[in-house]
Amino acid sequence: MYRTDTCGDLRLSDAGREVTLAGWVQRLRKMGGMTFVDLRDRYGITQVVFNNEVDAELCDRANKLGREFVIQIIGTVAERSAKNANLPTGDIEIIAKDLKVLNSSLVPPFTIEDDTDGGDDLRMKYRYLDLRRAPVRSNLELRHRMTMEVRRYLDSKGFLEIETPMLVGSTPEGARDFVVPSRMNPGQFYALPQSPQTLKQLLMVSGMDRYFQIVKCFRDEDLRADRQPEFTQIDCEMSFVEQDDVIGLFEGMAKHLFKTIRGVELTEPFQCMPWADAMKYYGSDKPDLRFGMTFVELMDILKGYGFAVFENAAYIGGICAKGAATYTRKQLDQLTDFVKRPQIGAKGMVYARVEADGNVKSSVDKFYSQEVLQQMKEAFAAEPGDLILILSGDDVMKTRKQLCELRLEMGNQLGLRDKNKFACLWVVDFPMFEWSEEEQRLMAMHHPFTQPKQEDISKLDTNPAEVRADAYDMVINGVEVGGGSIRIHDSQLQAKMFEILGFTPEKAQEQFGFLMNAFKYGAPPHGGLAYGLDRWVSLFAGLDSIRDCIAFPKNNSGRDVMLDAPAALDQKQLDELQIALNLIEK
Ligand code: AMO
Repeated sequence: MYRTDTCGDLRLSDAGREVTLAGWVQRLRKMGGMTFVDLRDRYGITQVVFNNEVDAELCDRANKLGREFVIQIIGTVAERSAKNANLPTGDIEIIAKDLKVLNSSLVPPFTIEDDTDGGDDLRMKYRYLDLRRAPVRSNLELRHRMTMEVRRYLDSKGFLEIETPMLVGSTPEGARDFVVPSRMNPGQFYALPQSPQTLKQLLMVSGMDRYFQIVKCFRDEDLRADRQPEFTQIDCEMSFVEQDDVIGLFEGMAKHLFKTIRGVELTEPFQCMPWADAMKYYGSDKPDLRFGMTFVELMDILKGYGFAVFENAAYIGGICAKGAATYTRKQLDQLTDFVKRPQIGAKGMVYARVEADGNVKSSVDKFYSQEVLQQMKEAFAAEPGDLILILSGDDVMKTRKQLCELRLEMGNQLGLRDKNKFACLWVVDFPMFEWSEEEQRLMAMHHPFTQPKQEDISKLDTNPAEVRADAYDMVINGVEVGGGSIRIHDSQLQAKMFEILGFTPEKAQEQFGFLMNAFKYGAPPHGGLAYGLDRWVSLFAGLDSIRDCIAFPKNNSGRDVMLDAPAALDQKQLDELQIALNLIEK
């Protein structure tokens, strides 16, 4: 037997027992004639003592151990004289009687400690060592527990877990596909699924009624802190449902996760906010509601006084930061620089402080009387000590997005984005389409399978930009943790949707004929949603990036630095696939 107990098991009640433990050498200390080894495994750390006076030969062998050696020890559990309150096993130690080295280790390239000295790249290259560190391991443990609770919840609601293929066809909508060449079908390619969207809909046509899958999805898109090229969805679909049924069931799942994983009981229904309001008041379809600072539009108040920047603007809006009138000129200049960064793109920022006597002092005082500034103060319900920050621009949506960045930055600076506070909401009534500048055509905002709102269907031909969809996103703390919709289940409406999206009937048939044909064989009304598992875990773990809750993530350039992937193929493999490379120098 390799071990009788783990390194996290033993307590004072075990004193006197003879035990066998196995694990990694975390640390070795020599004090007088004693050698102390901290022995670590997934479950914890236990102190092992070797006494030179009792067994010099054994102690000598212990002194030769190095960090991360894998050892097995036999010994007796004893009460510690100097207890360590920080360790669950801190009341005991093992008086070693025997030691066996199961494997040696090179000196690790960084310390296997909670606060490691290893930089990001090094830790990713040696990810198997990084995963030995408690903070990283505990993220994976949390992920496991969440996955188990998801399965438990969905099973209790009658969902079937069904696998769908990883080698599917490439589709033109959405992000770019990762493609896989087929040796048996030269010149033809599979795509890895961006999501099992159409397959889960076919499962509804099959009568499966309630489907789920915890499934890898692949998208070749630019990476950010909350985006990986391969990530995991909790993908679900249900038949004979309307929007409220889906929202109710998955709000229930969110509450179940909060309760079982975080111990937070959320009793109130989550807030529901129409997309148009989210954009108007927060400049984002995923507003962070942990704090207020909602936008106030100021066109009516501030136009007409000769301040050229505002006179020509299509949008003037601002936020009020409570108690921030103490901001210095330097801080305000830094905020101006912040909004002027190319990623944000504002031209400038106007500010106004509400002084102790209620007077408003602004950076554009020469254009505005105190009376106008007081009207502005009223619009924000601002009080002495508050700071008003204003942006303007000639594109309403763009300016709102800039103001959104400023709001989030102020939320950060004022400490309003507490990771232990959760603000959950549903964003609903999304537009069906959005205009793509790049493609110069309408694109589906969610996806082309989304049901337009019944009352807007008549506008599909006349004014598609105004059609809203039965689509919904769940947003927590400004993170889109999931999204879904009621689907089209009528083949004619689906064909029409492809037409509006610019597909010829032939192209639509070629790409999605399988789905439209399936709809002709008694497709039930259906809808569903997919949660982003990685985002849920990182939210619960308080992580800044979803990378930290993925065992083997990709870096920002989409590389796995440990496996050194992607990599070139051998000529032999390319020949088998009948692929000739035509690399274009950039
Ligand atoms: P959507 O594209 O909104 O919907 O994806 C669902 C959820 O998956 C997560 N997510 C990601 N997580 C990490 N890295 C990524 N690159 C990434 N992309 C998306 C988000 C998102 O809310 N088939 C539809 C769902 C449906 O309609 O049922 C879909 O894929 O949390």
